[in-house]
Amino acid sequence: MSEPKIRVAVVFGGRSTEHAISCVSAASVLATVDTDRFDVLPIGITPEGAWVLAPGASTLAIEGDALPSVTSGTELVLAGAHVVMLEKTRAGEVLGDVDVVLPMLHGAFGEDGTIQGLLELAGIPYVGSGVLASAVAMDKAFAKRVLAAEGLPIAPYELVARDETTLSQEQRDRLGLPVFVKPCRAGSSHGISKVTDWSQLHDAIEVARTIDPKVIVEAEVIGREIECGVLQFPDGRIEASLPAEVRTSGDWYDFETKYLDDSLAVDIPAKMDDTLTEKIRAMSIRVFRAVDCEGLARVDFFVRDNGDVLVNELNTMPGFTPSSAYPKMWSVTGLDMKTLVSTLIDTALGRGTGLR
Ligand SMILES: Nc1ncnc2c1ncn2[C@@H]1O[C@H](COP(=O)(O)OP(=O)(O)O)[C@@H](O)[C@H]1O
Ligand SMILES: [Mg+2]
Repeated sequence: MSEPKIRVAVVFGGRSTEHAISCVSAASVLATVDTDRFDVLPIGITPEGAWVLAPGASTLAIEGDALPSVTSGTELVLAGAHVVMLEKTRAGEVLGDVDVVLPMLHGAFGEDGTIQGLLELAGIPYVGSGVLASAVAMDKAFAKRVLAAEGLPIAPYELVARDETTLSQEQRDRLGLPVFVKPCRAGSSHGISKVTDWSQLHDAIEVARTIDPKVIVEAEVIGREIECGVLQFPDGRIEASLPAEVRTSGDWYDFETKYLDDSLAVDIPAKMDDTLTEKIRAMSIRVFRAVDCEGLARVDFFVRDNGDVLVNELNTMPGFTPSSAYPKMWSVTGLDMKTLVSTLIDTALGRGTGLR
């Protein structure tokens, strides 16, 4: 007799600015997951925060310029290890047990420790980092503090005081121009501006604040943009993929460049010598450990012409869209997407929940 299938809830959409990207990531996962081993329950979270039984992969892709979203469906709640349907005519019908959750959510209320906390409380194993690592990685300022404390190289930055709409002269002098103004807890380049003249700073801070009241300003780093995938295997081993390079013909890697136009070139693997490749891979694992990540992460770097490597940021639930680097980096490293997803789920199941 064949083994009973493992029930995996793939949760996507959500309340963050990265709702659409999360849907596209989920579509790729739903299309490749090993259905011989896993029974998949697609659960969408609407932009308002309702959990619904979602359609399959076909309706979740990017069509031309139109971005997908989770709109409606039978409402669900997660109760212990059960998913319960909330149809009016059927008072709270249990839809089934869930063995493991794949929170394919990017950004706030997903990648930031909140859903991880919910799953810890419910005692359901889940893919990826726990509460603390997710929250630290989501907050660019906190992540930088942790990385700096571990001796990892980062660019100079300043936090905008909560009651200020600008930086002091001393802070400006420390950074110099240009600077990047960013919402502290966002992604996909939402709300980020490059400021080349201090007269633009106030407006750039206001733009970032439409997404997050906490705003960080960073000195520009001129160099190559390199990414590296980190993956934890069920036996605990942590490995780094071959790195990738993102090259933009425009000035920087904004949202349009990331997902909508074709001015983006991604080299997978990145064209670089073995010494630099190994330095990036080793540093990625140090970043993963410094933040206490689990499961997976994508670590993003800047590499200056003189060979200096700086950590830009880490993502604890990197994109899995057809144009995303994370699954492609693993594929050139020898792990296809189906095996990658199975590894993520097996690692989560082996780990369980609770203090560890
Ligand atoms: N300090 C910096 N120097 C140069 N370019 C930067 C800097 N910070 C961000 N950028 C550009 O902006 C993009 C998005 O910034 P990032 O910090 O990665 O935010 P997100 O979390 O939205 O991906 C980067 O990929 C890069 O192109
Ligand atoms: Mg980034």
